Amino acid sequence: MSTAKKEYKRITTKTLVDMKKNGEKIAMLTAYDYTMGKIVDSAGIDVILVGDSASNVMAGHETTLPITLDQMIYHASSVIRAIERSLVVVDLPFGTYQSDPKEALRSAIRIMKESGAHAVKMEGGKEIKESIKRILHAGIPVMGHLGLTPQSIYKFGTYTVRAKEEAEAQKLKDDAKLLEKMGCFAVVLEKVPAKLAEEIAKEITIPVIGIGAGGGVDGQVLVMHDMLGMTHEFNPRFLRRYLDLYQEMGNAFSQYITDVKSGDFPNDEEQY
Ligand code: KIV
Repeated sequence: MSTAKKEYKRITTKTLVDMKKNGEKIAMLTAYDYTMGKIVDSAGIDVILVGDSASNVMAGHETTLPITLDQMIYHASSVIRAIERSLVVVDLPFGTYQSDPKEALRSAIRIMKESGAHAVKMEGGKEIKESIKRILHAGIPVMGHLGLTPQSIYKFGTYTVRAKEEAEAQKLKDDAKLLEKMGCFAVVLEKVPAKLAEEIAKEITIPVIGIGAGGGVDGQVLVMHDMLGMTHEFNPRFLRRYLDLYQEMGNAFSQYITDVKSGDFPNDEEQY
């Protein structure tokens, strides 16, 4: 178990900004249910993201687009019931904030009210600035998400590294500064060149959390199922696997099947 968790009783958006000021890296992971939320919170994670990656790893969709607001609220409230210390950030799902700022605010309010989450995350910069502004004005903390934004996958056409060209890199910088200026408390940068991510982290005062954005940023986020090795077919360069749960769980399930079929389970001590 981490020792870092003893230093902060409860992580807030302000804690994260202080961590950046103090040069302390921020550790963030996704979680989508009570049991995983409890384990990762007890381990001392700083931020839990109830990501719309639930659409992929929990529901088996190819993209994050199909997940609904009700489904995100279900996942978020399951996680919230488990946590004692971490800051819980919830993705606003595709289609709930892009069309108009009033709808965006209604979606964010539903997440905060019905799940008990602490903040929302939104993909995009200038294009969604009115929605971000309205949510911030209502007192709801917003984490931005720039670079590879999976809700726009059909616009990009591919999951390759973003902002390799100068024009896109400049837009990314401008958007990161805009998010900071508007009052977002942090920003996720996904799959962008490490040098660019480091430059942005140096130029803005809010924490930059990277995924596939190198080590020069203020923190890192991974999808829990990926870092535990459960999604064995997913092999991006940025992913570090800490376990091979696909294999280990498969072995456990096979052993159970063998034991049931052979009559070895349950034994005399495993019955009443
Ligand atoms: O939904 C998610 O898990 C995310 C992370 C990849 C940052 O947005």
